[in-house]
Amino acid sequence: MEQINIYSGKKAISRIVTSADFRDLASCLEPYPNIYAIIDAKVAQKCPALKQVADVLRRRGAKMMEVEAAEETKTLETVMGICGWLLENGADRDALLLAVGGGITTDMVGFAASIYKRGVRFAYIPTTLLSQVDAAIGGKTGVNFQKYKNILGVIRQPSFTYICPQVLESLPQRDFLSGVAEMLKTFIIEDGGNYQKAADLFFDISSEYHVEVMMYGKDGQAVWTDLLKKHRKTLNQLIAAAARVKAGVVSRDQFEKDERRKLNLGHTFAHAIETLAQKDGGERFETKGVTHGEAVAMGMVLAAKLADRYYRKDRNEPTELEGRLSSDLWDCNIPCFCPYTIQEMAQTMKKDKKAEGDKIHFVLPKAIGEVETVALTVEEVCRMMA
Ligand code: GLY
Repeated sequence: MEQINIYSGKKAISRIVTSADFRDLASCLEPYPNIYAIIDAKVAQKCPALKQVADVLRRRGAKMMEVEAAEETKTLETVMGICGWLLENGADRDALLLAVGGGITTDMVGFAASIYKRGVRFAYIPTTLLSQVDAAIGGKTGVNFQKYKNILGVIRQPSFTYICPQVLESLPQRDFLSGVAEMLKTFIIEDGGNYQKAADLFFDISSEYHVEVMMYGKDGQAVWTDLLKKHRKTLNQLIAAAARVKAGVVSRDQFEKDERRKLNLGHTFAHAIETLAQKDGGERFETKGVTHGEAVAMGMVLAAKLADRYYRKDRNEPTELEGRLSSDLWDCNIPCFCPYTIQEMAQTMKKDKKAEGDKIHFVLPKAIGEVETVALTVEEVCRMMA
């Protein structure tokens, strides 16, 4: 077990526990007398590793409820449903809300905990790679409202986040790869040798997968699960490394006034891609839609192109980073070619919730492990990318 802290000044305000199993969960829960667990209904049915969690919760007499976790149900209504259930079950100020699920579940439960009786404690057991390396760390909570994603919410830190990569072994391959894109994003921001290690690992996993499935006709999900088990050690190290990077950034800038903006690398483009895909039913994608991680992958390649146009003096030079990122993502089996033109994305980008006046903070990758945030108008971006 490893413990990583998030600090406010010198004070540890949230801890991240990374562990190969759930043996330490009981001791993490010990200080909390009344536990209310809110579990993603899909995960409860599909993830065998969560049996250990259910056993611990039963022994602790925790009350449990299931929620439907989807973008369409990430709403105030669902949060009110959680609050109603807490009231019915007599949850008091000493309650601990424990979210078990992906980023949608943790965001909603963190938000419910932040408003219920003016704030009770909460903790997370993230069950997707995306939430283990990103969403469940750093205290961003919230729900979608009207047409806008995560537009209502607060930043408030969970008491702890318990990361156990074992739960990922039953995750569908596409969902897992969505998290790989966020992991690579983290290492593009702060490398420490982990970017190449991650790109190599997922290239190997993807190649082995193709041999087993395409050549020997084996069952895709079974092969995928076996490969994650085989590479468990390196994977666990990379997840812990990504958590350390994010914890460091959040400790230095919890409320996203400055450095934390870097974590939005690729996201302004990604949100535009997701919005356009929702409008046109995802028809431009072979997969008839796009996951958040795939959109982030496309967004990072576009950000590299923008960086190249922004910094490069001699436009005849090859675009090295853009090429490297797209070939690494492609090798990991993550689609990264955006089907929309920059003009098509422009209107949506202007509505980015992080815009200040007519400027948006674009995160520009200069090299692996080196990014810079630059405020640009969408018009400037369109001109540079044309
Ligand atoms: N997902 C970006 C952040 O937590 O700041």
